[in-house]
Amino acid sequence: MAEWFRKARRLQQLPPYLFAEIDRKKAEAIRAGRDVINLGVGDPDLPTPEPIVRSLQRHVENPAFHRYALDQGALEFRAAVARWFERRYNVALDPETEVLALIGSKEGIAHLPLGLVDPGDVVLVPDPAYPVYATLSRFAGAEVHRMPLDAARGFLPDLEGVHPRLWERCKLVFLNYPNNPTTAVADEAFYQELVERAHRYRFLIAQDAAYAELYYDRPPLSILQVPGAREVAIEFHSFSKTFNMTGWRLAFAVGAAPVVAALAQVKANCDSGVFTAIQFAGIDALEAYQELTEPLRATYRRRRDTLLRGLQQLGWSVRPPAATFYLWVSTPAGLSSTETATRLLEQADIVVTPGVGFGQYGEGYVRFALTVPEHRIQEAVDRIGKLTF
Ligand SMILES: Cc1ncc(COP(=O)(O)O)c(C=O)c1O
Repeated sequence: MAEWFRKARRLQQLPPYLFAEIDRKKAEAIRAGRDVINLGVGDPDLPTPEPIVRSLQRHVENPAFHRYALDQGALEFRAAVARWFERRYNVALDPETEVLALIGSKEGIAHLPLGLVDPGDVVLVPDPAYPVYATLSRFAGAEVHRMPLDAARGFLPDLEGVHPRLWERCKLVFLNYPNNPTTAVADEAFYQELVERAHRYRFLIAQDAAYAELYYDRPPLSILQVPGAREVAIEFHSFSKTFNMTGWRLAFAVGAAPVVAALAQVKANCDSGVFTAIQFAGIDALEAYQELTEPLRATYRRRRDTLLRGLQQLGWSVRPPAATFYLWVSTPAGLSSTETATRLLEQADIVVTPGVGFGQYGEGYVRFALTVPEHRIQEAVDRIGKLTF
């Protein structure tokens, strides 16, 4: 490579990758043939339900689907999303203007700031959080400010704690409920307060609902159920975790029509939509939502209970998650999140994610993913029981 080559400044300015050392130790353990239990990744271990796979097999035969897809999504897909959204959330959406197909919710979240934010605008992101909100807002030139999530407030941002001058300059607020990594769910009062502020200060809300269908008791709300939200909010939903379809890349955005249109315009300049056969398989998935997703929720419930009971019996401090397939667990006294993760890997061959990887306010926690079978979770608990922290 030419010695003058330099990556763009936006890449050079990315925060340092914190887990190189842990990744190296993990790879080494696997190479050495050790029996590693990976509770680090948020990628379902179970296959996509068979009816969805069969549906794709049928639709892939249709030559009409082999051509470029419409970039905002097939109207049949958007109509199916609107029907499902009304059944699930009791919100009637216009499929023409309030629904947009995405190549995974990450794609939509990543492109959104390019459509909404000008250099110097303020974007508020939670901390800890999925890193895409902050990184891609910075790529769009935004000034990113963090809203700490702490246990005392149920991992909801303290809206009063944000300076009024920041609200005045704020263009976009990212939310993620049910939350990765804290597993918290937002209540109606919180959404209501933020939507009122959005109208008062004229900013938009992007709510990432990628985990909305992985709940344990009460189904979480959509922000669009709150009065006034449909003028200021866009919400991201994904097939990835809901139907074990992470590799398929299918998701959708719903909400304020001009915001949906801005995102569609960015996408029209970057991609050419989701393979139509996948969208039609997605229609069948949504039509069979209840039958297909209830067994998945039951599986995660059993796994959650095994890990929760096991860790609590060992004296770890962990609250039952209301949703998501994670557990957000306080580190043992005196240990940082990285030290805890390193110890679990070195002494028990267990991979977890250090909380600090999601932001500075994630320090003091590690995240366990429930993406291995129950007997492996029990094995992990047994191994942890043999350690002294
Ligand atoms: C909070 C959150 N949002 C969005 C995504 C992206 O999901 P997808 O792009 O597969 O829809 C993930 C994936 O891990 C996530 O954790």
